[in-house]
Amino acid sequence: MDKKTFKQELLDELYAPYQQCMKCPLGSLGRTHVVFGTGNPDADLMLIGEGPGNEEDKQGKPFVGRSGQLLTKLLHSVGIERHDTFITNIVKCRPPNNRKPFPIESSTCKAILLIKQIKIIRPRLICTLGATALECLLDKPVKITQARGKEFLFENIKVIATYHPAYILRNPKEVEPMLNDLTKVASLLGLISGG
Ligand code: URA
Repeated sequence: MDKKTFKQELLDELYAPYQQCMKCPLGSLGRTHVVFGTGNPDADLMLIGEGPGNEEDKQGKPFVGRSGQLLTKLLHSVGIERHDTFITNIVKCRPPNNRKPFPIESSTCKAILLIKQIKIIRPRLICTLGATALECLLDKPVKITQARGKEFLFENIKVIATYHPAYILRNPKEVEPMLNDLTKVASLLGLISGG
């Protein structure tokens, strides 16, 4: 069995007991799907957002709504194809009215799913999208305007922080710094020179 198939099997085994997860309050707050994540189980790059929105909850896939479409476009523009990456969120269930996940929700989901996904995939690089994702990984508050473009470590894996694409939809002028961060990601992965 090749590495990719093996990792996909490990991911499937990880998800199986959580199809109807009730480990945190989000389980009973109206979610339709537990959105585990999609993409290459042997990806060099793992992208982590905050939590599923309405469209993601309906389809059971992360980043398929407006911000997801923008993310796919921005990645492509720096030479990263979405299907080569693995995309997931801090919490796998949609918070009501797209509110920020509460600490008990993100810490529970991090412990039972996110950390285990990272350990199975073992990407070369993690890119966090927005403050919530970085704060949850680092377990401390961050100012995303200061943290973006910077490098951190999680489980000995390099983490690059950037903005959440939903922030770019609201503030289109900020696309340039986000593209700079993604260019850095592509360059660290050896997809482009410089950056
Ligand atoms: N926002 C997120 O943080 N994640 C998604 O999957 C969609 C929107």
